[in-house]
Formats: sequence, structure tokens, C-alpha cells
Amino acid sequence: MGIMTIDGRKVEFTDEKNVLSVIRKAGINVPTLCYQPELSIYGACRLCTVEDERGKLFASCSEIPRDGMVIYTNTKRLKKYRKMIVELLLGAHCRDCTLCDKSGNCVLQDLAYRLGVKEVRYENTKEEQPLDCSSYSIIRDPNKCVLCGNCVRACRELQGVEALGIAFRGTEATVMPAFNKGLGETMCVGCGQCRVVCPTGAITIRSDIDAVWDALEDPDTRVIAQIAPAVRVA
Ligand code: FES
Repeated sequence: MGIMTIDGRKVEFTDEKNVLSVIRKAGINVPTLCYQPELSIYGACRLCTVEDERGKLFASCSEIPRDGMVIYTNTKRLKKYRKMIVELLLGAHCRDCTLCDKSGNCVLQDLAYRLGVKEVRYENTKEEQPLDCSSYSIIRDPNKCVLCGNCVRACRELQGVEALGIAFRGTEATVMPAFNKGLGETMCVGCGQCRVVCPTGAITIRSDIDAVWDALEDPDTRVIAQIAPAVRVA
């Protein structure tokens, strides 16, 4: 138990596992992309960064709360950095928002509005990747991935499957099934938990119901087992 000062207000904490939870408890909405309370902490997006009284910046999702901490969540500097992070993510993102299933329910789109991103100054230097439509229930669009790693952790930590992983590093980093196979060629069971935690349209549920019916007629029961949860989720 302890007391922190957040934006000039004293806030008590007890067993909150990170500074972000204390901030949220105080009713302050700090943006996040890679934080999911039910998953392990990844600390990749840096959107949850806050500033202490000495001007030190740190990710609030990966910092343990300490008694006497003084932090600021929305300084001019933080707003500028968050806006730049979103702009950089959009720079490497397929921006066909009007055609995207996730439009209107996309965390990245929402953040762009919220932080006032009106233009993207950065050129997308990434090569366009093909859609992965190999699964009967899930479609992956690597061009919309923001590398938050939520899908990878959900698959491993909630479902115990590990159908997805992060391959390569730096600008080459990509979420993909092992050996760059299609999702339909992995142990994926079509539970859809990756889709629930994906903040963008990088993972969506198939809406082409004909394909689902075709597959339901497939005598291979393993395929049917993969499809059933997807029908429920959709
Ligand atoms: Fe903290 Fe992404 S939410 S780094």
C-alpha cells in the first residue's frame, strides 16, 4: 500500500501490479496498444509512457508503483511523443480504413483522432505482404499489424497453442506462424482470442460464410473442430 501523486492528485494504491493500473484507478485514460491486463507485460508500444518530477520518461505498464512517486500523464512533451508514435505506426500501416472490418472499432484509428494526427509524414518502406487466408476462421493481414504482440501472447498464454510468433528484428520484425506457414497449416484451433486482443484489423474473423459451410461438409473432423468456434464468435 502507498500513495502516489498523479497530475497533482494523491492516489492510493494497494496491490496494483503496475503504475498504469493506478493511473486507470484514478480515472485517467492513458493510451495503450500492447497492454492487456490478462496477458504478460510486453512494453513495446511506449504509448503508456509517463513523466516523473525529474522529467524522466518511463512506460507505466512495466513500472511497479512505489510510495511517494510523482508522475505526470499528459504533459506537452508526452502528447508530442504519443502523437509521433501513432504517426510512425500509421506510416507503416495499410490505411484502407474505409474498407477495413475494424473501422470504427480500431484502437489505432481511435488514437489518431484522439491525438490529432491529421497527416502522416513518413513514407511506408515496408513491402506489401499477402493476406493469410489459409485458416477457415481467421484472416491475417500483416500490413495492418502494429507489432503489439497481443495475439502472440494470447495464443500462448490463454490458449497454450503458440500458433503465432514474432520473427526477425527491427524493421524486419513480423508476426507470423512458425516457418512462415499459413495459419491454417498450424495448430491454430480457431478460438479467436488473437482477434479479441488485436487492436487493429490485422486479425479478423472470416465473414465469407460460404467457405465455412464448404468446410463444414469436409469429412475431416479436425477441420470442423476448427470452424465451430469461429461461427460462434462471428
Ligand atoms: Fe505500455 Fe505498450 S502499453 S508499452
